[in-house]
Amino acid sequence: MLGRSSSRPEGGGRRASRHAAVGGRPLLEVEDVVVQFGGVTAVNEAAFSVDAGRITGLIGPNGAGKTTCFNVITGLQKPTRGRVWLDGRNVTSMPVHRRAHRGIARTFQRLEAFGSLTVRENVRVAFDIHRGITGLVRPVAADIDALLERVGIAAYAAERADSIPTGTARLLELARALAGDPKLLLLDEPSSGLDETETDAFGDLLIELAGEGRAILMVEHDMDLVMRVCDDIHVLDFGSVIASGSPADIRNDPAVQQAYLGYADEADEADQAGEADRGAGAGVAYAESAVETTRTDLQPVGAALGAAPVGAADETTVLPAVPPAPREVNQ
Ligand SMILES: Nc1ncnc2c1ncn2[C@@H]1O[C@H](COP(=O)(O)OP(=O)(O)O)[C@@H](O)[C@H]1O
Ligand SMILES: [Mg+2]
Repeated sequence: MLGRSSSRPEGGGRRASRHAAVGGRPLLEVEDVVVQFGGVTAVNEAAFSVDAGRITGLIGPNGAGKTTCFNVITGLQKPTRGRVWLDGRNVTSMPVHRRAHRGIARTFQRLEAFGSLTVRENVRVAFDIHRGITGLVRPVAADIDALLERVGIAAYAAERADSIPTGTARLLELARALAGDPKLLLLDEPSSGLDETETDAFGDLLIELAGEGRAILMVEHDMDLVMRVCDDIHVLDFGSVIASGSPADIRNDPAVQQAYLGYADEADEADQAGEADRGAGAGVAYAESAVETTRTDLQPVGAALGAAPVGAADETTVLPAVPPAPREVNQ
């Protein structure tokens, strides 16, 4: 379990807790979860926790099991073994809609909005669905407008969802998730398709949302964003958590460095052996070919880890510019 202190001045303590943790337990606990698809172990004894009022990053190479973890947390994927706890309650067997009712919302790596509806109608539907669950009154237009404004897509309100840029569609996903006023928000690669200015604004919004006491768990490849906004980070590799801590801890963690340095070392050997698996050679292929299907602003994970200004006194460690190899199957 992670400590609540953060090396970053804006971390942890800034967060009021409207959605307070129960009895000091983390809001979400993933306990030794295993997911097997036939012979493939996608998640391998993964264990991590997420606190209310904080932004938690879940990072790792493509194929590490991040999206599968999200599916287990939300109930879309039954784990082979292990448990998921929400608010101190075992929700491992709870269906998706009941978890949603208990305050879990997510965005999808693959966009899920209704293409033939406008942006505004999509958000209205999300409000309506939530009203159906909770029996709340129908949303007034002002609620929808305020939410569109908040996530920065008000200018697209009347556009069809299938005609807006990818980055805007991701923000629409966020708006739809927020319509349910979730206490746990899971974001799967939310900044893909956002430009730098939009990403900055998005980061500020996440900090604001956590400041309201929400727990945010974010899978994200943009390490600058991760290092700037996350209070806690868990690193997944081959389905297991290999490191947990603050951004500064993660940048300096020997296991993380070994993982990324290991890719580089293996790459030289793999190149010589004519293989291209998960080393630098595969990394180049990832940067050149997989960008279109996974993200539009790919940057080398290792380089960004090293370059991110997280306020650590010792910033001498620079991880290599080796992006992970592609081994991804999106949900
Ligand atoms: N439905 C599935 N059937 C078979 N294998 C899957 C399925 N979903 C994911 N996988 C495999 O599980 C591993 C983890 O995938 P995923 O969770 O999508 O990783 P990440 O989100 O970290 O990129 C990969 O090896 C992937 O090929
Ligand atoms: Mg994924």
